[in-house]
Amino acid sequence: MRVFLTGGAGYIGSHTLTELLGDGHDVCVYDNFANSRPAALARVRTLSNRDFEVVEGDIRQGDRLAGVMRAFQPDAVIHFAGLKAVGESAAFPLEYYENNVQGSITLLRAMDAAGCRRIVFSSSATVYGEPRQARLDESHPLAPTNPYGRTKRFIEEIIGDWAGANADASAVLLRYFNPAGAHETGRIGEDPRGTPNNLAPFVSQVAAGRRDRLKIFGGDYPTRDGTGERDFVHVIDLARAHIAAIDYAMANRGCEAINVGAGSGVTVLEMVRAFERATGRAIPYDIVDRRPGDVPASVADPARAQALLGWTARFGLDDICRSAWNWQSLNPDGYEGVDPEADGKP
Ligand code: NAD
Ligand code: UFG
Repeated sequence: MRVFLTGGAGYIGSHTLTELLGDGHDVCVYDNFANSRPAALARVRTLSNRDFEVVEGDIRQGDRLAGVMRAFQPDAVIHFAGLKAVGESAAFPLEYYENNVQGSITLLRAMDAAGCRRIVFSSSATVYGEPRQARLDESHPLAPTNPYGRTKRFIEEIIGDWAGANADASAVLLRYFNPAGAHETGRIGEDPRGTPNNLAPFVSQVAAGRRDRLKIFGGDYPTRDGTGERDFVHVIDLARAHIAAIDYAMANRGCEAINVGAGSGVTVLEMVRAFERATGRAIPYDIVDRRPGDVPASVADPARAQALLGWTARFGLDDICRSAWNWQSLNPDGYEGVDPEADGKP
């Protein structure tokens, strides 16, 4: 198949790209590198020993996007491109609505112009907001608590309306829980700019000695040990869910929202212990106040992914921590200083 990846140079995009190439698909990556580097794509070329198209561009540039798509003629689009920092979205909401929501509308128009009617969209468990039950299924009410989450909710609805208006359209909205981990080779991984907002990259950097201590946000949640509980899903499992979603979109019409999570909860302290096992190093931490906006627990009911996509998570917490540590220790500064020319030869 011919697959068009917006945001394909990013963390989840680069891992999905690797799996797509490994399965023999032809890919075009369209990314403005706002939060990623060409070096990641160079690494994917070496890893997969395959070439693919790369276009530097912004999804808000409609004419450019439509031109690239018309030339590539994709069977399906996977739409990763977007801004994703919750705190930043509260400070700069219009940036988020413009980039994520307006960008997605522009993308759908470009798909129409190129005659492509299949899309897999990167949504998030954050669309559910405060959980009403222990394990969240897709019928849980949508009540995101921050502008980032609202962009995901609005885009879901826009894509749903687009699919409703086009009898030949097919859309899969993948609601990711907490992606973590890296490719087993340690050649690609998560490379956050500045101080990581998310738990797994922060803990990796503490283990590596780049940061002194972890702050655990909240020790008084109604969970097993008082710390927040999340559903961590290995990024390679997540990548495989996209491939299953494309297969589904090839065979079905309409719009489906599907959770992508392992279906089991891990507390922040359990994650810290798992990292200690994987690294053989102590992770010093302090328990501090709750982070505003955090929910106590967020765990997927992944039954629909199993039923519709035939997908379940294969990797566990220890695999996630081991692979994250392998990436971190082989690339202490992420892709910083990696020369795409020298490092990216197949
Ligand atoms: P990422 O920032 O690593 O990747 C996003 C990519 O999109 C980057 O390469 C960035 O340069 C590109 N991009 C951003 N705006 C663009 C634009 N206007 N035009 C073209 N390219 C643009 O993030 P990620 O973790 O790989 O996340 C991918 C998607 O999954 C995002 O939509 C994110 O909101 C969603 N998501 C991520 C998580 C997570 O925890 N990582 C959880 C739920 C959902
Ligand atoms: N945490 C800490 N210390 C840190 C970072 C995080 O204790 O330095 C805790 C948080 O308080 C929370 C848990 O670790 O209890 C997970 O936090 P993350 O920031 O890693 O992840 P979130 O669940 O808050 O959010 C993530 C993404 C969102 C996405 C959501 C659901 O950041 O974009 O998962 O997919 F929407």
